[in-house]
Amino acid sequence: MCGIIGVSASTKNVSPIISLGLRRLEYRGYDSVGAALISDGKIMVWKAKGDVQSFLRRFKLEEKEGKTGIGHTRWATHGAPSDVNAHPHLDCSGKIAVVHNGVIRNFAMIKKVLEARGHRIVSETDTELIAHLIEDELPFSSSFFEAFYRAVSRLDGSFAIVALYGEEPNRVYFARMKSPLVLGLGEGLNIVASDIPAIIDHTRRVATLEDGELGWLDDKEVRVFSLTEQGVVEVSREEIRNRIITVDWSFEEANRLGYPHFMLKEIVEQPLAVKNTYDGNVDEPMLSFAASLLLDAKRIIVVGAGTSYHAALALSYYLARTSRLPSLPVISSEHKSAERFVEEGDVVVAISQSGETYDTLEAVRAFKRQGAKAIGITNVVGSALSRETDVVIYMRSGPEIGVAATKTYTSQLMVASLLSLRAAQARGLLLEGEVQELLRRLSLSPEILKAAVSASMKIVGKAPLVGVRSMYVLGRGLGHIISKEAALKIKEIAYVHAESYPAGESKHGPIALVEPGFPVFFVATSDSPEIEGNIMEMAARGARVVVVRPEDLDVHAPEGTELIDMPPAGNDVMLEPYSMMPYFQVLAYVEAVARGYDPDKPRNLAKTVTVE
Ligand code: G6P
Repeated sequence: MCGIIGVSASTKNVSPIISLGLRRLEYRGYDSVGAALISDGKIMVWKAKGDVQSFLRRFKLEEKEGKTGIGHTRWATHGAPSDVNAHPHLDCSGKIAVVHNGVIRNFAMIKKVLEARGHRIVSETDTELIAHLIEDELPFSSSFFEAFYRAVSRLDGSFAIVALYGEEPNRVYFARMKSPLVLGLGEGLNIVASDIPAIIDHTRRVATLEDGELGWLDDKEVRVFSLTEQGVVEVSREEIRNRIITVDWSFEEANRLGYPHFMLKEIVEQPLAVKNTYDGNVDEPMLSFAASLLLDAKRIIVVGAGTSYHAALALSYYLARTSRLPSLPVISSEHKSAERFVEEGDVVVAISQSGETYDTLEAVRAFKRQGAKAIGITNVVGSALSRETDVVIYMRSGPEIGVAATKTYTSQLMVASLLSLRAAQARGLLLEGEVQELLRRLSLSPEILKAAVSASMKIVGKAPLVGVRSMYVLGRGLGHIISKEAALKIKEIAYVHAESYPAGESKHGPIALVEPGFPVFFVATSDSPEIEGNIMEMAARGARVVVVRPEDLDVHAPEGTELIDMPPAGNDVMLEPYSMMPYFQVLAYVEAVARGYDPDKPRNLAKTVTVE
């Protein structure tokens, strides 16, 4: 994980740019922070365990002088969060400073070699080794850049690196291997960073780097090279120019706009986000192309991690129900289970908000190596997923900053519905009139979401989690899929142990935990009237039963049941998630705030997980 930034500017002091960049990148990791500037040919470093705000306050970074610098916000992988493990890391001479995101796999072997050669290694991180490795290559190289790429070529793993060399006071060196890194090309200033929000306040011209590329920038130019077995080959300026995109959203759009937390803002924004997903994709040729790939597929595998995996489950459900296409949902980090049988003719659909989740990318790469075609569903234009798949469908939900996915989940569901509809249409399962009617109904989802968000805000107090330490969230069919995401939100934001289970299966074990007062939430959906039996079973054991349903869905529940009525969804499985999901998002949010937790920065989590 981690967020990194490097800047070189001709007239400006870069410390305010780095400070703002750190704030923008904090979602990528927030256990320690650091920065380095080149000032009078010397590298100055400030770093500490803790969050960005405290770091900036403590060191008054914005007041420091230097026209070239780097910054880092950390999510620990090698070594616990501590001052000494915080980046940047220096070599023995103190002339080379490095920040890094990712994991160096051959860390132990490199450490042994470096120690044998007399390097003094002070931290537990793999990053520090990079600084020493460059130092080690320097005497055998004709330039710092040569030492840099020779060091990088000795690294195995996933990484994005940004480095400074005190003797070249205008330059920032960078390398990318399976971890995100983008370039911001400005006037009298160039930036390299993990993500676009760190760049757009200063320039809107952004170009992505490919895996295996490295180079350097200064205030005037950017040079990019590709690492090959024979050494490095320069990537032409024309090729870089072709990669430039002009980012048309502002950080203001991603800003909290007066909301106390990004999570709340993003929950409230869902109607707009899902409308954008619908409008941007309903006639999108890529969607139809993706649907035609699914039709021709020998087998379909859908992958994702976290919330995106839950969207993958929904896609699989809709493909079966609407398009009568079987598919296998696989958790990204478990892709090896499917690798053995994937072959040419198969199609993988990978869902990832960020498009940078390591496990999801690795799943796509592995399946593609076996001959499968890949469809990507992502929110981030230019992300690794968008570049590594044969077809990409953009969610167009706008930037999501809160660590827990909310609006991007409901947008992913919209893509899932549209894709399965197009597939059903292409299979001839739906007549033109039926397609139009289903699309019309889907276009109601923003309204349903709007009503659901405002209803949730009002009624969330009816079933509070006060004093609750453990609970079940049960559902059947689509309700089970929604219950998985509901439980995840409650776990990751409110830190309440919430376990999702198929309601029908709950009697095969989980029911043993139920004693009087134990909270059991049910997500009732129109595809599974059998859930009534499961509600009775839990009520009979004295559970505190809470049933969440769209209000037009008939559910017979025993006396004493807490009924949470959400907006009507016409007994339509494509609309029911929009009616009920906001309730659980708001519940998790409200409970987290009541318990004094920061919903935007849940402990131990990060927005984009770029490690295995
Ligand atoms: C992290 C985030 C989750 C997200 C998951 C997958 O765990 O905290 O909110 O669902 O990564 O991210 P992706 O970008 O691939 O959707």
